[in-house]
Amino acid sequence: MRPTTRTARRTHGFTESVIRGMTRLANEHGAINLAQGFPNFPCPDVLKDAAARAIRDDVNQYAITWGAARLRNALAAKYQDWYGMAVDPMTQVTVTCGATEAMAASLLGIVNPGDEVVVFEPFYENYGPDAILCDAKPVFVPMPAEGPIDLDRLAKAFSAKTRAIIVCTPNNPTGRVLSRTELSAIAELCQRHDAFAVTDEIYEHIYYEGEHIPIATASPAGASARSSRLPMSPTRSARCTTSSPWAPQRRCRRRSRWEWKRWATITTKGWRAITAGGVTSCATGS
Ligand SMILES: Cc1ncc(COP(=O)(O)O)c(C=O)c1O
Repeated sequence: MRPTTRTARRTHGFTESVIRGMTRLANEHGAINLAQGFPNFPCPDVLKDAAARAIRDDVNQYAITWGAARLRNALAAKYQDWYGMAVDPMTQVTVTCGATEAMAASLLGIVNPGDEVVVFEPFYENYGPDAILCDAKPVFVPMPAEGPIDLDRLAKAFSAKTRAIIVCTPNNPTGRVLSRTELSAIAELCQRHDAFAVTDEIYEHIYYEGEHIPIATASPAGASARSSRLPMSPTRSARCTTSSPWAPQRRCRRRSRWEWKRWATITTKGWRAITAGGVTSCATGS
């Protein structure tokens, strides 16, 4: 008899999270665990108070699917402040429950089965399953821990089938911070092949050297600086950004991401709390 708990074939290659697996092994063997980050500081009182207030005030209704207006406005203001980016909070910001959801929603919204997605290797472990869920073929390009990316090799990885490239900077796991030259080269390739740069910038404030540059501000000369970013975890200073600075007219792409976002958990209380508590992270896109 067929087991009733059989999962969809597309999930059969999924394994336990490497990070959780390492934590399990470290606990088992009493090893020092360098695989997982454990916050060793308390949540700021302002955030705790705002969350408690939202609970006490019965903020119970469904929120707008792409994020509370107050939060989107705060995120847009932050982008202007940090990077001089003019971000429309109504059409260019979508709030998600963490970078994981943002990345999955972005890829599911723009990638068709059979498309290719360029992924730098080594890569953060979720990008593999993300590509599988989209029925896309990942095309890997080495990301050196030191020295510049081989831009010729990167150019060869792009083809007529390329739909997107995942750009994680500052990078997990190499720690590399991509330079403006590298980001401009990626933007140029995306423009040439009509592909998206889906960026994961959750470590934008955590790096040792260099300068974090959102690819939306490193576009090839003549391209519009409009972009679309998706957030992040309401509890972390993290974000996933989907940037298409060269294709501002494609509003339908944001629409498609909203479509995919419909399954998302809507956390009205959380959004109220982080808005009250002072937002420290965000995401945009078009
Ligand atoms: C590069 C990168 N992206 C995304 C995530 C997950 O982010 P979130 O918890 O906001 O879904 C992590 C977590 O370690 C990460 O390292």
